[in-house]
Amino acid sequence: MTTSSSVNFNKNGAPYNTQFDDIYFDINTGPAQSKNIYIEGNNIAKKLLCSKTPFTIAETGFGSGLNFLLTLQAYQEIEAQLLLQPKNSEESPKLANLTFISVEKYPLTLEELKSALSVLPELARFSQQLIDKYPNGEASKFSTQCQLSFLDGKVTLKLIFDDACKALSAIKASKLGLVDVWYLDGFSPAKNPEMWSPALFEQIARLSKDQASLSTFTISGKVRRQLVDVGFRTQRILSSGYKKEILTAKYQQNKTSGKGYQLRPKITKPGQVAIIGGGIASACAAYALTKQGVKVTLYCKESRIAQGASSNAIGAIYPLLHQQKDDISEFYQQAFWHAKTLYQDLLNQGANFSHSWCGLLDVSYNESLIKRQHSFENINDWPYDLIHSVNAEQANHLSNIQLNLGGLFMPHAGWVAPAQLVEQLFIAAEKTNRLKLIISTDVKHIEKQADNSWALQTSNGNFSENILIVCGGAETINLNIVNKLPLSSVRGQVTSMRTNESIKKLSTVLCHKGYLTPEDKGIHCIGATFSKDDFDTKNRPEDDTFNLDMLQKCLPNITQWQISDINKSKARLRCTTPDHLPMVGAVPDIKAHQTLYSHLAKDKNWKYDQPAPVIDNLYVMTGLGARGLCSAPLLADILAADICGTPYPVDSKTLFNLSVNRFVIRDIIKRK
Ligand SMILES: Cc1cc2nc3c(=O)[nH]c(=O)nc-3n(C[C@H](O)[C@H](O)[C@H](O)COP(=O)(O)OP(=O)(O)OC[C@H]3O[C@@H](n4cnc5c(N)ncnc54)[C@H](O)[C@@H]3O)c2cc1C
Ligand SMILES: C[S@@+](CC[C@H](N)C(=O)[O-])C[C@H]1O[C@@H](n2cnc3c(N)ncnc32)[C@H](O)[C@@H]1O
Repeated sequence: MTTSSSVNFNKNGAPYNTQFDDIYFDINTGPAQSKNIYIEGNNIAKKLLCSKTPFTIAETGFGSGLNFLLTLQAYQEIEAQLLLQPKNSEESPKLANLTFISVEKYPLTLEELKSALSVLPELARFSQQLIDKYPNGEASKFSTQCQLSFLDGKVTLKLIFDDACKALSAIKASKLGLVDVWYLDGFSPAKNPEMWSPALFEQIARLSKDQASLSTFTISGKVRRQLVDVGFRTQRILSSGYKKEILTAKYQQNKTSGKGYQLRPKITKPGQVAIIGGGIASACAAYALTKQGVKVTLYCKESRIAQGASSNAIGAIYPLLHQQKDDISEFYQQAFWHAKTLYQDLLNQGANFSHSWCGLLDVSYNESLIKRQHSFENINDWPYDLIHSVNAEQANHLSNIQLNLGGLFMPHAGWVAPAQLVEQLFIAAEKTNRLKLIISTDVKHIEKQADNSWALQTSNGNFSENILIVCGGAETINLNIVNKLPLSSVRGQVTSMRTNESIKKLSTVLCHKGYLTPEDKGIHCIGATFSKDDFDTKNRPEDDTFNLDMLQKCLPNITQWQISDINKSKARLRCTTPDHLPMVGAVPDIKAHQTLYSHLAKDKNWKYDQPAPVIDNLYVMTGLGARGLCSAPLLADILAADICGTPYPVDSKTLFNLSVNRFVIRDIIKRK
């Protein structure tokens, strides 16, 4: 049922609603504020370009149609840009068709719509298209729905003239949802609570696709909590215009999926957390959390940070990619770009650490690797920019030495000095005045207190902390409670070699069975060994010999190194998990999982909506294996999202693939 709009017009011509005593849009900022909240707040351009299926935006409160017109404008701008691009390959982005659903209980009449839009001359071209198609006559006689077509049918506007909650309840959607993006634009929650009711948010969740985004002008705590209750992760972001802050959200915690064990625990953003660590994992976590306004106390057992696995002279940064996209490669691909962005941002802010984005060549030095290279070429699943095949001549050119072997080249990969990078991350975190380092403090034992806080027994006295995050690398295995997690230690030794005339010119990282890095301060690193369940960090001469032999076997005659050319060697421990993906998130209560989800042993698809039982206020981020430099920044942002309640930077499948409780669930299913 529609009712008349009670619209009035201010002296400056702006539409104003007398019933709700509120504006339709801010005339002073014109469309700029609405564009900022809805178009930019949802990253509409990128989403439209990335969408492989028809795209749906839904809005509560059509009013004058300003948000629709801004969306139409954005769509046409992207289309125009695409037309200018050369149509060279299948990789060229395509623009998805768009359906824009908007619900409106008090529609403007055509005359009112014309008056309202007349104050927005910059949108005149688009307004006219809407005016030409908008229903005429008395608003109370509008039929309940109308469908209007724009831009040769590429954009469809579905207007539903009814109460928002009733209208959304009537929309059918599959279990996978329907809506990619939500614009919430009712009058303010204080003046129009009907438009922000729990029942409406339930409908919004029901219709949302996984990862659907949402934005709104209001930062009301009640609205934010209702969004969280139905499965959204929210974030307040700064805006320009009369609204200084706006709210954005992502649908990432579907409460009715029947996979409650994939739900992450809700916590109220704390003022302070404690991290046990000192390596790249804790450095990225401390940086991400302090940037979000959380104070961090770091406990490190050494007298200096970066003395564990992150202390190597040089480490390569590159993603683990299989020929075809699978869960592991998808994660590492995303983590790689994330890491590159963070490290480059640090450098741009003035941080100083030895590095080179010189590319990495994975050399095809035997028959099976040549076959693999051909499969990569044929399957062609990855962007050229990420990885591509090169022949022997190209490889010689890229590496600047006579390799005479082809391979797979990752142009954006490279190397960094991990210890320097860790130090710079901690310095950047310290600049926020929210980081406190407690060094020479080995946390020996942790114990939960009655008030849910943690008592830490350390080599340096006892401490109490509310929220504890363990980033202890392979030594996580020694700490009580977290020692129940399926983590292993894999010892590795790297050998630093003095450069010489034949290898000095090497200009890219080379990967064979091991790796060889270009010269930095007269040194190349070769490595590394892999010894499972070995906790010894003393150097072994036989491991240096192994590294030299491995290089000689895979890339014979690349240079003539002898034992006497060794500058230094270092052995440290990698922390690995059974499926070679790291783990990040809350530590599960394993026994409670086994009881709660026991029926999964009989039917792995059994539906459970109950959320995963966890040990309150205890988190881990470890198991970074042999790629910690690549994975740590993305993992840290997932951890920060866990702690701060903000949107996760990965999709729900990846989130569960990285969750700590995935092993418990898999064990129940396998009846282990
Ligand atoms: C030989 C070798 C070669 C490698 N090469 C590469 C490479 O080329 N590229 C790449 O990306 N990765 C590489 N890695 C892997 C990479 O180094 C690791 O993934 C990464 O450093 C792990 O970081 P982390 O912070 O989890 O652990 P760590 O760097 O080990 O840090 C853990 C920290 O926690 C502290 N700690 C632990 N327990 C306690 C406690 N109870 N109390 C107080 N403090 C504690 C330790 O002192 C340490 O400082 C290599 C690893 C090895 C061993
Ligand atoms: C702030 S205005 C929307 C502005 C609009 N997006 C624009 O671009 O002009 C809020 C709109 O919500 C509508 N509205 C209020 N309560 C409603 C309800 N219960 N169901 C549907 N629409 C409602 C109002 O009529 C009004 O048009």
